[in-house]
Amino acid sequence: MNFKVLIVAALLGIIFVIYSCAPGLYIPSLADANKTGSTIDDLTLGRKLYVQNCGSCHGLYAPNHLKASDWPGILAVMQQKAKISNSEVEFIRSYLSVQAKP
Ligand code: HEC
Repeated sequence: MNFKVLIVAALLGIIFVIYSCAPGLYIPSLADANKTGSTIDDLTLGRKLYVQNCGSCHGLYAPNHLKASDWPGILAVMQQKAKISNSEVEFIRSYLSVQAKP
């Protein structure tokens, strides 16, 4: 096997792992970050916390399941269920709000 084939295989593997954990959940881009004043790092952390804490009882809802104005109310209830901190919820809220239902 030559070197280029190995690199392509590794990249495909990484992409597969990212998508298989959370199919369909957007990966934050600079445009997403600019929309909110968050950074890509913050949104990426929000995505990670969302995937880690919110998919054990039910599937992961798409960000556009709810309007940005409706996510905080649900999140307040789900925070109790997921037993996560206020700052963790805040990262998750930012991630979900960016691509919430208009
Ligand atoms: C311990 C189990 C549990 C965890 C963890 C959990 N949920 Fe839920 N979630 C539920 C149950 C049960 C329902 C449905 C009943 C209800 O609405 O109370 C629900 C419903 C929902 C709904 C549907 C609300 C609607 O009316 O459309 C959303 C959205 C949601 N959860 C988001 C989240 C998010 C975000 C997290 C992570 C912070 C999370 N959940 C973590 C148990 C959980």
